[in-house]
Amino acid sequence: MRVPGDKSISHRAALLAPLASSASVVRGLSDGVDVRASVQAMQRLGAAVECEEDESGLTIRCAGGGLNVASAPRLDCGNSGTTARLLAGILAGSGIPAVLDGDPSLRSRPMRRVIYPLQAMGARIEYDGEPDRLPVRLRGRATGTLRSLRHRGRVASAQVKSAVLLAGVLARVRVEVSEPALSRDHTERMLAEMGVPLTFDPGRTGAGDVSFDPADWEGALDGLRMTVPGDPSSAAFLIGASLLGGRTVRVEAVAANPGRTGFLSVLEEMGAGVDRDPAPAPGGEPRETWTVHPPDGLRAFSIGGDLIPRVIDEIPLLAILAVRARGRSEIRDAAELRVKESDRLAVLARTLEKLGVVVEETPDGLAIQGRAGRLSGDVETRGDHRIAMAFGVLDAAGDADLRIDDRACADVSYPDFWEALEPFRRGSRRGRSSSAGRVIAVDGPAASGKSSTARSVARRLGFVHVNSGLLYRAITWWALDRGIAADEPSIEAAVPGLDLALVPGRDGFDVSVAGARPGTALESSEVTARVSAVSTLPAVREVVLERLRRAGRHHEVVCDGRDIGTAVFPDADLKIFLVAEAGERARRRLRQRAVSFTEGDVERETRRLEARDRLDRSRPLSPLRRAPDAIEIDTTAMPPDDVVDAILDLAAAAFR
Ligand code: S3P
Repeated sequence: MRVPGDKSISHRAALLAPLASSASVVRGLSDGVDVRASVQAMQRLGAAVECEEDESGLTIRCAGGGLNVASAPRLDCGNSGTTARLLAGILAGSGIPAVLDGDPSLRSRPMRRVIYPLQAMGARIEYDGEPDRLPVRLRGRATGTLRSLRHRGRVASAQVKSAVLLAGVLARVRVEVSEPALSRDHTERMLAEMGVPLTFDPGRTGAGDVSFDPADWEGALDGLRMTVPGDPSSAAFLIGASLLGGRTVRVEAVAANPGRTGFLSVLEEMGAGVDRDPAPAPGGEPRETWTVHPPDGLRAFSIGGDLIPRVIDEIPLLAILAVRARGRSEIRDAAELRVKESDRLAVLARTLEKLGVVVEETPDGLAIQGRAGRLSGDVETRGDHRIAMAFGVLDAAGDADLRIDDRACADVSYPDFWEALEPFRRGSRRGRSSSAGRVIAVDGPAASGKSSTARSVARRLGFVHVNSGLLYRAITWWALDRGIAADEPSIEAAVPGLDLALVPGRDGFDVSVAGARPGTALESSEVTARVSAVSTLPAVREVVLERLRRAGRHHEVVCDGRDIGTAVFPDADLKIFLVAEAGERARRRLRQRAVSFTEGDVERETRRLEARDRLDRSRPLSPLRRAPDAIEIDTTAMPPDDVVDAILDLAAAAFR
């Protein structure tokens, strides 16, 4: 996937490019309503900014040269806190008179945090309505310039930090901002790209300072030429949807600023696998491709402290993931969420509770008890884009029937969100008892090509491949390792409490048993010799069946084995039964071993396979048989790719 340009970086490009003394071209800006508010405000301030739209977002071209206002304009910042707060710094620093206002949500958000430090620098700013709220009136500069300031922020806020820095840079006075924890540093990076002498540590993750010193600076900002990387906060929703759907997702060219990537570590805490590939980063902003693999069931998380500013916009989504995680998740130190586009803690708590989730609201956080089962009810978004999208993700994941009152508010940051979410929407699962996602069951006798076929089908569909043999082999390996492989009663006694799990890997599932990952040892001849006997034990079959169903509850799977369509997933969406003549299967098996063989070898292997078939068909527990609704494919004369294509055709019809 790709996501629209990062909103925070787009705001800064829109607000800073007109201040440069040379021309700028910035591509890939977010074309959400918020960023448009920044562009329009600059146009109202006399900046010659031209916009062009294409499929990669908004391109702005700007000759630079600064602002040019005759009378104090009224600037409507809409829903956008970033526009209002950064503009306050720009107007104060340039001594331009104007009135800043916004929609009812923005009018309810605190403004003193920026207005007070700007006033301390000597800017003349008044509240036109209630104290601490928009509208605010900037009176322009009386005489002289602003004073230098050392600001120690109580909360980590990128908007406050940016406003003070911009005021200092434009008034050419020294400013220093100390933050209790790192907030996104896009303003610092962009100003540095434009040639402004700033001191900050782009690699830090904790508390720290940023300062601007105008000594020896000639005072001109260079034009900007960059493409805005994708928005990690928008990507988070798609990643969340794909985790809930049990699918791996790759998002390309996302902004990977350390102030924005905290949610990736929370996903890891929940058990997801996160691969990060750096890409070239023109424009001073790191850019990466992320591949996120779903775990076999999400685990609860606990977050607070310094991490909060780095996940602040992703918390609504994390709260939704917590609903479908195992255990109780905790969010602390996040009182800032009460002053976002809505009081997000209150809105999340109230809505989740109405849907039947056990949730506890504290002054600065939430505790959410994960649960399975259907959730249904109304979602009042309060016009908050991130609330709408977060519940959209929960709804798309299935087992939920949510009526979201305002989907259109997603336009603030992600105009095509609902379309982008569509591929992650689960199909209907009426009447499904043992699994939640779509399931394809592949059964058949030994050496019928089940595993390689199932693996290819899964890869082509973006499903996860699960192989029941892997679990039987893991139990056998463990029994050999414990020295109880021949002692069936001991195996049966120990297996119900055995720590046996399917763990997601790059290519389908891997298995862990009693804390170990046997890997290739599962294919050893000792394991092969014992596995059929171990797999006939009822307690063993029960454990394996439970693990496979669990995978089916959390993932869309292609599962192969001998009783998948009959016992494990009797209500699979598609059941395939692969057969091939024993002689052909014998040849395939010998070819697989990659040694030369004679007709005699083929005959011996054929007899062995026929004996194994008889055993599999006649065993009392889960005998090998075709489920009545399974589709039989005789692969004797078919090349492997044709078998895969045939199954993909059947899948397309089954999922329609
Ligand atoms: C933003 C900073 C954060 C964030 C907001 C965008 C920015 O707010 O929540 O969505 O672009 O600077 P605070 O600065 O209030 O923490």
